[in-house]
Amino acid sequence: MLILGIESSCDESAVAVWDSNQRRVCYEQVLTQIDLHSTYGGVVPGIAIREHLNGFPLLLKNLNQQFDLSSVDKIVVTHGPGLIGSLGIGIAYAQSLQLLYKKPLEGVNHLQGHALSPFIKAYSEDKSFSIEHICPHLGLLVSGGNTLLFELTTQERALKFKILAQTIDDAAGEALDKGAKMLGFPYPGGPFIESCALNGDAHWIDFPKAFPKKTDFKFSFSGLKTSLRYFLAKLTADEIEAQKPSICASYQQAVIGALTKKVEQALTFKSYKSLGLSGGVSNNNLLRSAMERIANHHNIPFFVPQKRYCGDNAAMIAFAGTFLTAPLKVDPNRTLEAIT
Ligand code: KG4
Repeated sequence: MLILGIESSCDESAVAVWDSNQRRVCYEQVLTQIDLHSTYGGVVPGIAIREHLNGFPLLLKNLNQQFDLSSVDKIVVTHGPGLIGSLGIGIAYAQSLQLLYKKPLEGVNHLQGHALSPFIKAYSEDKSFSIEHICPHLGLLVSGGNTLLFELTTQERALKFKILAQTIDDAAGEALDKGAKMLGFPYPGGPFIESCALNGDAHWIDFPKAFPKKTDFKFSFSGLKTSLRYFLAKLTADEIEAQKPSICASYQQAVIGALTKKVEQALTFKSYKSLGLSGGVSNNNLLRSAMERIANHHNIPFFVPQKRYCGDNAAMIAFAGTFLTAPLKVDPNRTLEAIT
């Protein structure tokens, strides 16, 4: 089966083809708009729509030149969650291709795409690998909009997601971006915090910890962001500049510590066969190695996407389209658990 995936939920326009017989991504292209939104300190929905409208004709022209679209067996498109205007452009292009090539069209949940992205490499490299073999799986999905600890199980070969913990306020990536903004870094600030923190002392500031109790299965990052604001207010501009690496290292450590603590708690409550990490924040090397250490400690395999599949991309949508699809129905507020 050749599955064409289309992604446009936020500020990336992307197409990819997953070959489920060869178990590999056989075509992919992503157009990111990040530089355009960076000036505004966040994603501007109107600009995102305009850029999807500019980007998709180019993506499809390139795809058509290198790939025989009539050989595709199925088209899948992200149908939520995401920005309604952005989702609509990808869906409209997917519907046009459906009419033109007379192929089935189905919807893929964007969060389920991220949640399964850590397995793309394993499927490509090990032809006997199957998600069923590593379930129950504990996954941490961390992006600019979501912070989710979830369980993945199989029931009669169907994949089932259950959310174990989620944020009650800001997402982890949002906390990094807002903290970075206070420190004068451009949007999105997560990668800037990571590189500045390399020369800093992660113990320089002891930030307060939300939900320290073992039974609290929730994340919260807005208090952390506020304590950074109060901390910075007590320093002069020169002091902030001089201590920036240690401020970044301590702040980043507080975010990573809050995430890994709940992962460790979940692993003491139930035994899982594998651990996974996904979403834009999974680009962070410190978080990747902290999660890997936890998996090693519990003697279970650790799965993390290749860096090009951490942020939004269509390969993860086409890949997820092999396992999880639903009748196309746009829903900007869809959750991870939703079956459709
Ligand atoms: O999944 P994603 O591309 O899309 C959104 O949900 O928007 O995630 C973007 C998030 C941003 O918050 C960004 O700062 C964060 O991922 N991010 C990072 C790193 N690279 C991207 N956070 C920490 N360290 C990184 N290296």
